[in-house]
Amino acid sequence: MPGAHGRGSVFLEEGDLGKAYDSKIIKRLWLFISPHKWLIIFSISLLPLVAGLQLLQPYLIKTAIDENISRGKLEGLNLIAAIFFCALIGQYLVTFLQQYLLQLSGQRIILDLRTKLFSHMQRLPLSFFDKNPVGRVVTRLTSDVEALNEMFTSGLASFIGDAFMLCGIMIAMLLLNVKLALVTLLVIPFLAVIAAFFRIKGRKAYRNIRTKTALVNSYLEENLSGIEIVRLFRREKRNFNEFQNYNRELRQANISSVFYDSFLYASVELIGSIGVAIIIWYGGGQILQKTLTFGVLVAFLEYLQKFFVPIRDLSAKYAIMQQAMAASERILKLFDEEEEDLSKGVSKVESLKGKIEFKNISFSYNKGERVIKNFSLTIQPGEKVAIVGATGAGKSTLLKLLLRFYEPDEGTILIDDVDISHLSRQWIRKNIGVVPQDIFLFAGNIEENIRLSNNSVTEKELIENIRKARADRVIEKLKLGLKESVSERGNNFSSGEKQLLSFARVLTFNPHILILDEATSNIDAETEHLIQEGLKELLKGRTSIVIAHRLSTVRYADRIAVMHHGELRELGSHEELLKRKGIYYRLYRYQGGIEEMRNQRVNL
Ligand SMILES: Nc1ncnc2c1ncn2[C@@H]1O[C@H](COP(=O)(O)OP(=O)(O)OP(=O)(O)O)[C@@H](O)[C@H]1O
Ligand SMILES: [Mg+2]
Repeated sequence: MPGAHGRGSVFLEEGDLGKAYDSKIIKRLWLFISPHKWLIIFSISLLPLVAGLQLLQPYLIKTAIDENISRGKLEGLNLIAAIFFCALIGQYLVTFLQQYLLQLSGQRIILDLRTKLFSHMQRLPLSFFDKNPVGRVVTRLTSDVEALNEMFTSGLASFIGDAFMLCGIMIAMLLLNVKLALVTLLVIPFLAVIAAFFRIKGRKAYRNIRTKTALVNSYLEENLSGIEIVRLFRREKRNFNEFQNYNRELRQANISSVFYDSFLYASVELIGSIGVAIIIWYGGGQILQKTLTFGVLVAFLEYLQKFFVPIRDLSAKYAIMQQAMAASERILKLFDEEEEDLSKGVSKVESLKGKIEFKNISFSYNKGERVIKNFSLTIQPGEKVAIVGATGAGKSTLLKLLLRFYEPDEGTILIDDVDISHLSRQWIRKNIGVVPQDIFLFAGNIEENIRLSNNSVTEKELIENIRKARADRVIEKLKLGLKESVSERGNNFSSGEKQLLSFARVLTFNPHILILDEATSNIDAETEHLIQEGLKELLKGRTSIVIAHRLSTVRYADRIAVMHHGELRELGSHEELLKRKGIYYRLYRYQGGIEEMRNQRVNL
């Protein structure tokens, strides 16, 4: 079952969390960081200033207490208060600037990254999308890129800021009073043990959360996109229960991480309080022995407070870094996927005549399962060939090979006697117009969907093409005409209407060679008539390959190729094939029966 398999692989990939810092990854990311390096360096260089201004404050308090308050001396106290105030304002301004610049560079980096990723994705071969569900690719471009931004803005920078802070505090303490500093810093080994314990346990917990979140997300995605089927088959209750299970697992995973988070938080608080107790106990004794001033004691208490804040936030930062590393790795993996070269090869063929030749083509999507077997067929310029065959016979695949979406394993395809592997994909796709089996309309309006950014066509030509394609009947019914909006995937149009619109699209594109992969869906007799009329216009003067599911379409073909299990089994005109009494004859009889039934219904 593809769904289950897909979910399984998402499960593994999204849960893959490891290191919180990986220099190899950072090295590769440097490509994206380096254009903004000066902004980042400037922003980070402000960090020591922020730390310095913060560390100045306890020192000022100490001075005020020792020099003024305890001596009952008022002069100078105002000055200290003023400096203190300035330090606060300074800290505020520098922090603001530092944060702003860092976020700015972060946003610039992700803009670049996302743009590059998008253009890379546009060039990836279709086989990539066969293997990677759309939802997962979207995650790369959205939340993974976002996670990376977090790494710059909250993770890395604050680690650096914290490092400055912690070192600064230790230095300040040692400068103020070495003995008291050494005694106070006795708490550090305990903190180290707790941090290490958290790192091991917390890592597992976070990994678990990611895995379970991915599971919930993919379940949601599948169920929402298949909501129609869910309703039709009344699976609501079962799916609800299934979802509830996933949801409960996620809650469980979250609870266990909350456990470690709380553990870290409470332990750091406890050790902090022990530190305070040590300062008061040891420092108090020293004050009595007159080896320590009261001001220094207060300053120590202040410093200690500041010392524990970054450690308490460690878990959050650790999670950010870990996620960012995993996200970067996935993004880089996507960049490693080889692009399809669109422009490589010949991109000019003198006066294209439109001869197409399939020569001993074999192809498989997955190794060992051959979908096309030794297929040969020559189509003369201007000829119209219909391909018929049962579902899964490999008809659409053949067209994808002609368009170089995939490369054949064996054999060659020639256009005007030139091997298409020497022709650039861009050229091929420019000269072959396609009406695909599943017609895709983009959200927007009808005109945009027909033009598809082809602005060289005038309004008059456009309307003429729409008329030729018989799409005018569709558009006439709409209040806004060409400007009528199209919803996502063209859901507000019937499949017959979508076909007519796509005919107009191809006429506007005006290709030399035309490929039509007829939709398998049933349409009413009237629309079918319109489609046949439109089709006639479409095929005029072009080499055409039409994959036909309806006999009415086969009528326009000069020759009919019958495919069966990836092989060409019969080839000839309609009459010739009927006489042969082979596969085509059977198909015709079956379809003829259906046609008769439909005619009867219409006549009623
Ligand atoms: N992307 C893919 N990855 C793997 N297998 C595929 C892929 N696309 C198609 N196939 C398989 O290749 C075979 C031929 O598919 P193809 O779409 O060419 O059939 P078709 O003749 O166009 O059928 P239909 O008349 O239903 O459109 C099928 O067995 C299908 O399962
Ligand atoms: Mg098909």
